[in-house]
Amino acid sequence: MNDVSRRVHVLPDAPALAQAVADHVVDVARFTLAHKKRFDIALAGGSTPRAANALLAALPLRDLVDWALVRFFFSDERCVPPTDDESNFKMADETLLEPLEIAETQVFRMRGEDEPAAAARAYAGVLRRELGDPPVFDLVMLGMGPDGHTASLFPGTDPLTDDDALVRAPYVEKFSTHRLTLTPRVINAARYVSIAAGGAEKADALREVFEGPRDPLKHPVEIVAPAGGKLDWFVDAAAAAKLQTTEARPAT
Ligand code: 6PG
Repeated sequence: MNDVSRRVHVLPDAPALAQAVADHVVDVARFTLAHKKRFDIALAGGSTPRAANALLAALPLRDLVDWALVRFFFSDERCVPPTDDESNFKMADETLLEPLEIAETQVFRMRGEDEPAAAARAYAGVLRRELGDPPVFDLVMLGMGPDGHTASLFPGTDPLTDDDALVRAPYVEKFSTHRLTLTPRVINAARYVSIAAGGAEKADALREVFEGPRDPLKHPVEIVAPAGGKLDWFVDAAAAAKLQTTEARPAT
């Protein structure tokens, strides 16, 4: 993946990683809102986004963005009801949307409670209606799993299918369940994309993604290459520990 233009930010530990991700959201939101009166973000699931959400909902960051101008979408969702502890919407609602008192009209969740294929089609319709086709997000937030998945594009679920789909409902063997996910077509149409990867369990995948041969089927996160946008990786020292390139060596 080493031919994709990206900025790599290496933070010393998990708290600093979450802070950097949250600061980046504020920076992109403020830059965007200086040019247009709306900021469309796709939220991610996972531990770093959860921690970043909490920082965004607290002082000082909460006072730095006019949240009434922000619309919240999702990069992926588990096929569960919005009240389920597994739900990415529930996590975002508890850590960000409810504390910031975001109006329901500003939130566009994937309906994990519905039949997966129907939910994917429905969300694609929401994206077309609200953002156009291809839908262009101002910022898509992503994480990366230890297996190199991102959003719910998992190894073996053929993330490369270059069809017109905007949202997909892959069956994920490792969890024996379907998931809902934005497709690469949507992710790569975004103006900004951030990928957060923290923890030693990500070190092997990160090394292969950054320094190994390109293999998006093995590491779907490698499909992320926003054509006209900016890609920012946020990693901590533990995740970067096996990297050889200076690009992402922790600052000494
Ligand atoms: C999800 C996320 C998923 C997540 C990665 C990293 O629904 O779980 O979309 O892609 O971002 O698995 O998660 P952690 O940051 O918790 O390792």
